[in-house]
Amino acid sequence: MSTPFILDTDTAQDDCIAMLLGLLDPGADLRAVTMVAGNVGFEQQVRNALMTLAVAGRLGDVPVFLGSERPLVRPWVSAENVHGDGSGGLGMDFTGCEPEREHAVDALVRMAAEAPGELSVVAIGPLTNIALAVLRDKDFARNVKHLVVMAGSNNGRGNITAAAEFNVYVDPHAADVVFRAGFQLTVVPWAPLTLRDAVFSRDQLAAIATLGTPLARFFERVCSATLAFDESVGIPGTTHPDSLSVAVLLHPELVTRAGAYNVQVETSSELTLGYTAMSWGVHGLPENARVVEAVDAGRFHALIREMLATETTPDRPLSGLVPEA
Ligand code: RIB
Ligand code: CA
Repeated sequence: MSTPFILDTDTAQDDCIAMLLGLLDPGADLRAVTMVAGNVGFEQQVRNALMTLAVAGRLGDVPVFLGSERPLVRPWVSAENVHGDGSGGLGMDFTGCEPEREHAVDALVRMAAEAPGELSVVAIGPLTNIALAVLRDKDFARNVKHLVVMAGSNNGRGNITAAAEFNVYVDPHAADVVFRAGFQLTVVPWAPLTLRDAVFSRDQLAAIATLGTPLARFFERVCSATLAFDESVGIPGTTHPDSLSVAVLLHPELVTRAGAYNVQVETSSELTLGYTAMSWGVHGLPENARVVEAVDAGRFHALIREMLATETTPDRPLSGLVPEA
């Protein structure tokens, strides 16, 4: 039984791997990719998404829609210090690669309304497009079967500030709209979950490198900048919260512990802007999300490794993919 879903993404590094899982997992039915301002420059994010489709041999199979190029209220904040430009230095001839003309928010609303209760969404960037879809169509939250978001931390450290995780920090107002909207909502947080269960160590990266497939080489390239940054801040490898978010939708059995929470977002304090207050059900606040607390990390790592072992024929040559002779 395949899982139809839309991936809303700020495509760089782990977003690319999340997209590969959505393209290649036998249980995935990726219907569309919608782009949102986040990690790196918007045009570069689109190029990163097209290269990801190409390396999977799926260029042209999945429509790419362009969404919001800035947050709802605040100015855009980049994560280029973490990811570089998110491409790992890879390039491609993009001639003829055209995103769809329809705006991503219109596509999200339309596709959910065409199949009410059937289509899920995995949002792995700032939640600007999702919030705009909620504001655009009062039925959107009800039409979406299941929304999985990579967002916030569960009573744990942030990453872009001590208090805030990047996706929520970039657009806290959008996150606030989404958490109040009434989705069937699952949250994959940064801390403690990602830092414990979704980091690929250098040993694991070395094992992936031995696969020798185009996908394994792509993984190594796009993760290289983030590996350097992560290690510089004491994380022993590359972090993969986005591909974990897709994995949680496609393989719910990966989740070994999750809880009912009330999640609220700080939208005004400069000190804690983007903080996600995740109340674990003892403060009399209404549940609005299921937060993943633990996953089978070994099974998740194996899932990604098995996916990267897939032999694909890239639709177009990617410069930098094969080490110079
Ligand atoms: O904080 C982690 C999130 O921000 C992930 O979506 C990753 O892509 C980074 O940009
Ligand atoms: Ca992301």
